[in-house]
Amino acid sequence: MPGPEIRVRQASRLRVEFENQLPQETTIHWHGVRVPNAMDGVPHLTQPPVPPGGTFLYEFDVPDAGTFWYHPHARSAEQVGRGLYGALIVEEDDPDALPCNRDVTWVLDDWRLMSDASVSADFGSLRDLTHSGRIGNTVTVNGRVTESFEVHSGERLRLRLINVANARIFGLVFEDHEPVVVAIDGHPTEPHSPEGGRIVLGPGMRIDLVLDLNGDPGSQTRVLDTYYERAAYRLLDLTYASSPRRDRTWETPPRPLPPNPLSEPDLLTAEHHEVMLGGGMMGRMTHAMVDGQRFDARELFRRGIAWSINGIAVPQDRHAHEPLAVLRRLASYVLTIRNDTAWPHPMHLHGLAFRVIARNGRATPRREWQDTVLVPSWSSADIAFVADNPGNWMFHCHILEHQAAGMMATLRVS
Ligand code: C2O
Ligand code: CU
Repeated sequence: MPGPEIRVRQASRLRVEFENQLPQETTIHWHGVRVPNAMDGVPHLTQPPVPPGGTFLYEFDVPDAGTFWYHPHARSAEQVGRGLYGALIVEEDDPDALPCNRDVTWVLDDWRLMSDASVSADFGSLRDLTHSGRIGNTVTVNGRVTESFEVHSGERLRLRLINVANARIFGLVFEDHEPVVVAIDGHPTEPHSPEGGRIVLGPGMRIDLVLDLNGDPGSQTRVLDTYYERAAYRLLDLTYASSPRRDRTWETPPRPLPPNPLSEPDLLTAEHHEVMLGGGMMGRMTHAMVDGQRFDARELFRRGIAWSINGIAVPQDRHAHEPLAVLRRLASYVLTIRNDTAWPHPMHLHGLAFRVIARNGRATPRREWQDTVLVPSWSSADIAFVADNPGNWMFHCHILEHQAAGMMATLRVS
């Protein structure tokens, strides 16, 4: 792991012949890509699951440039947790969209390893389901425990960060460097320094950075992950080669990337919906509906169900359920996502991209386009989008244990 990095040019057609060599059924989901619904890879909802030994042909046009990824969408907590994922990079049509020396992908994951370095098999433990999800004890970059990453003085990197971890949130700090964020979840944003100098990625999220390497040849600096303050650690060192690479000077700050062809939501006519996230340990959820039946919290926990959206829990791979909302094709929507729990939730919407227009009721400065929005505990985020892609789209927490334990719903665009 990771699986092969797939690179395609924007607006081209991607064709993937998939063969399932697992002993379990599965599918492939193209996280963040605005695919036709039948290609979205959600078992039962958009396609039959692919049985062991079975095949499926995924074929679709990629409308947006940017950093995306692919992963199974069946028993995700275990299948993704065991390393099934890869990067999907869609290159801008204009090869000079972002001049740099190197275009580098870091697939960030963490693992819960036993003392013999095997993957702990305790997937779906009640503690992980009801608390922060399965946070591991070993972090990898592109599938390896990485001590150092070699760079050259004077070079400019485009660094694509992808958080594929089940549950770990990353908060990266590049000591002595000033990374510039140029895209979030694949979509260009005005180039800017990250808030507090730290790049925060919830599970499922991507951030593209421009990193100007201005250190001295032969020097070394650290990349730290300080998200969980009491468990901060060094991710790796940036190690400068002894020879500089000063072949040109770079525009600072970098030019914005060309925008993707997204429909602009009309906030004046947008229909507003409230989405309440509930559950988990130390939460206020007293009961929830599962398959049309009402259960109290203790009974839910006994069944490994811990989270709800608007009072309804849709546990693992239960894709036959009523949609949370039916949206009219081409209409604009604003969803206020309220996190009424003691845990952060990276909420991911399939098939569409949305603008994050407000947090806690206050307008965001850049109204970023994203497909996954990290909503801190006891806070809210407003997202806005045009329902321009018809179909049944999953809307779920990308902490895969939370998804498995109920924090999942469908938005139908018809
Ligand atoms: Cu990255 Cu529903 O998934
Ligand atoms: Cu969650």
